[in-house]
Amino acid sequence: MRDITTGNILTDWKDQYASNFGEEALHLAHSLHKSALFSDEALARLVENVSRKNYHVKATDEGSSSNREGELGDLSGEDILKAVRRGKIWINIQHPEKVDPAYGEMLSDMYREFEMRVPGLETFKHMTTILISSPKVKVRYHADVPGQMLWQVAGRKRVWVYPNRAPYLRQEALEKLVLKRLHETDMPYDSSMDDGATVYDLEPGYMLYWPLNCPHRVENHDCMNVSVTTEHWTREIRNFYAVNYANGLLRNAGFSHLDRQKSGLGMVVKLGLAAAAKFSGMTRSQQKPYRIDFRVDPDSATGYRDIEAYEFRK
Ligand SMILES: [Fe+2]
Repeated sequence: MRDITTGNILTDWKDQYASNFGEEALHLAHSLHKSALFSDEALARLVENVSRKNYHVKATDEGSSSNREGELGDLSGEDILKAVRRGKIWINIQHPEKVDPAYGEMLSDMYREFEMRVPGLETFKHMTTILISSPKVKVRYHADVPGQMLWQVAGRKRVWVYPNRAPYLRQEALEKLVLKRLHETDMPYDSSMDDGATVYDLEPGYMLYWPLNCPHRVENHDCMNVSVTTEHWTREIRNFYAVNYANGLLRNAGFSHLDRQKSGLGMVVKLGLAAAAKFSGMTRSQQKPYRIDFRVDPDSATGYRDIEAYEFRK
C-alpha cells in the first residue's frame, strides 16, 4: 500500500488551494504520467481488452460538424494505438477498472488525496474515463454535469475554460443539460466568447479542475494525447443538480423566474420533486442507438475506414 501522506499523485499541493476548492480553477502538478498504468504496453492492453459497451471511438469528417461512431474490431492494442498516432480519431475508455482493477485503485487514491487535503470534502460516485486521441483532434464547446477534472498524461492540448454563467452557460441550457435534453443549438459557441475564457496549455503531469459546469473546449497540439477525466459528486453538487432538474421540469410546465436555492425549504422541495420525477420514470428518455459506420484501421491515413453502418445499443 502506498503512503498517500507523501503526495504521490498531487505533487505541488499548497494548503491555500483548500479554502476555495471547487470555486476557482486549479492547475496542479501530478504524477500519473509516470505511472506504469499509462505505458504504451498498458494502454495497448487496455484498448485491446475493453469490452464493446465500455468504449467509444469517434471521428469527425473534414468540414462536418457531427461526430461519427466507430468500432475497434479485433485489432491488436498496438495497431489501435498506431491508428490513433497517425489518424484523426479519439477513443474514450469508460470503466478502465473493469480491464485492470489498478485503474480503480488509482481513482480512489486521487480522491483520497483531495479529501485528505481539503477539510470537510466528501466525494462520491467517482468515475474515470481514459481518452486516447490523435494529433489536432478537437472537442467542441460543451459543459458537464458532475464535478470534473482533466489530467494530462501524454501529449499536449490547449483547453479553453469559460465562466459557468450567461452568456457562456444560460440557466435554461444548464437545466436541459441536467435533464439530458440539451441540443447543440442550446449552447451556441462563437469565437468572440474566447475573450472570456481562461486558456491553458496542458502538459503531461498537469491537471485542471474547473468550477462546476464551466463550459470548455479542447484542441490537441500536433501529437497523440493521453488524458484522464475524473468525475465526482458532493452533497452540494447533488443538491444543485436536483434544483436545476426540478427547475427544468417546472420551466417545461410553464413556470418562469425560477430561483436556484442552495439551502432551505425551497431546495428540499425541489430535491423531492427531482427524486419523485426520477423515481417515477416520467423523464426517462429512450436511449437512442449508436450508428456505427467505421472501423479503426492502422493502414489508413485517417486511422479508420468506412464500413456498412449498423446500430448498436449499450
Ligand atoms: Fe467535458
